[in-house]
Amino acid sequence: MKANLITQFESILLSKYILTDEDDKTPYLTDWRKRYTGKALAVLLPGSVTEVAAIVKICAAAGTAIIPQGGHTGFCGGATPDSSGEQIIINLKRMNQVREIDIANQTISLDAGCILQSIQEKAATQGFLFPLSLGAEGSCMIGGNLATNAGGTNVLRYGNTRDLCLGLEVVTAQGEIWNGMKGLRKDNTGYDLRDLFVGSEGTLGIITGAVMKLYPLPISQWTTLVATQDITSTITLLNLFQKRATSLLTGFEMMTEESLALNQKHFPHMANPLKGNPPYTILIELSDHESEEHVKLLLETILEEAFEAGLISDAVIASNLSQANSFWQMREHITLAQAEEGANLKHDITIPLSALDSFITETDTLIRAQFPGIRIINFGHLGDGNLHYNIAPPPGVDFKAFNLANEKPVHELVYSQVERCKGSISAEHGVGQLKLDGLRAHKGEVAHDLMKAIKKALDPQNILNPHKVISI
Ligand code: FAD
Ligand code: MLT
Ligand code: ZN
Repeated sequence: MKANLITQFESILLSKYILTDEDDKTPYLTDWRKRYTGKALAVLLPGSVTEVAAIVKICAAAGTAIIPQGGHTGFCGGATPDSSGEQIIINLKRMNQVREIDIANQTISLDAGCILQSIQEKAATQGFLFPLSLGAEGSCMIGGNLATNAGGTNVLRYGNTRDLCLGLEVVTAQGEIWNGMKGLRKDNTGYDLRDLFVGSEGTLGIITGAVMKLYPLPISQWTTLVATQDITSTITLLNLFQKRATSLLTGFEMMTEESLALNQKHFPHMANPLKGNPPYTILIELSDHESEEHVKLLLETILEEAFEAGLISDAVIASNLSQANSFWQMREHITLAQAEEGANLKHDITIPLSALDSFITETDTLIRAQFPGIRIINFGHLGDGNLHYNIAPPPGVDFKAFNLANEKPVHELVYSQVERCKGSISAEHGVGQLKLDGLRAHKGEVAHDLMKAIKKALDPQNILNPHKVISI
């Protein structure tokens, strides 16, 4: 069976693109956070949509499961195979060409294996902004971004990956190719297949190409760090910026004192330029197509108003691009500092902004009572109501042992508070295998059944990323 499958793959791919040697497969078998390690019969590296389709046909005939994979930077174990050693990984990295930039239509057509950062750079050479931006942009791929409907730091102004996508090319579970590579902003021809595949985490089809929106590149950008004392004044500050700066507001990120202390511990050069380690450090960015002076004046005026209203106690405006970059580096290094510290329990949640204060106050109290001494490391895309509510064991306690004993009750406590506040247990990272149980418990029965029906209709053999997102 094994040998037979490999022989069939050899009729499609050169043998150097069929990895069966253990050492060659290793880099594809463990996720970025090192939470999940699986085994695979082979890792396949196709170079075209027709090759992907042919591979899927072979797997469908054999009933062999396929794990689609991009940059393997996902946080939910979605791109990691199980431990059976019978699954096939299809990694899209060789499909990395920009197919077309349509200047009049302001769109870019891409292979799914294009690295996010390379798309931003390519767009910039033509005077365009491709606004999707996240800490993993140097290695994640647009196919993975679409499959997870990734968010990141520009969602407040430009939306998440779904909002940026106009068309898709997808290989179905039967090995058929759906060509939906249209760059249309209006298309009401029945069910939206594109939106079905976006965010489906490789469980409904393999994304091989996409048409994405482009925007004019802003000519001026101002970045500031401000200190706030609590969540309520931080949200009032956000609302002030939304009212005064409207669409010029492109970033509003929150970092707690604890999250920046972790940065300082692991990356001592990442010092917070604000005085006295405030409870909340907020990174705010304004971008515009008018002069630098215009945006700077607007930023200063809003900050003055915020000082007078007692919303902020300190502010530093980046004086040049390199200082602005260092502010963003500080924000993005929190994830890396957490990885250095140990495998904390991550919660990537959204809460309506009106309920965020109540969520944090109540959840902090409950969780501290049930797990004395635990550390809460919060940060996130506050402008979107997206909180990364992370839990680390008490100082000195082994991460592995703590997680083994407490992971389920910690998740359950946080998720039931999310439900109380009408939030979501996954804002931007997806479900994968990490939140399979959480989704079943908190999505709602009807919604869960509808999702099952969709999965059964599109992938009745359950060969595309089985037991990820949903089990049928
Ligand atoms: P992978 O990890 O390879 O795959 C993710 C899922 O998509 C899997 O289920 C996989 O099967 C499926 N998949 C991958 N490619 C395809 C395809 N072509 N067709 C169908 N299914 C496919 N995420 C955010 O949303 N916001 C952030 O701010 C953010 N910051 C991050 C910072 C760091 C430092 C890191 C390491 C990760 C961060 N992430 C963030 C998570 C991650 O980068 C995103 O989820 C990203 O979109 C995953 O892309 P990938 O190419 O690595 O996908
Ligand atoms: C972020 O916002 O930096 C990412 O989602 C990564 C994380 O949650 O650690
Ligand atoms: Zn995030």
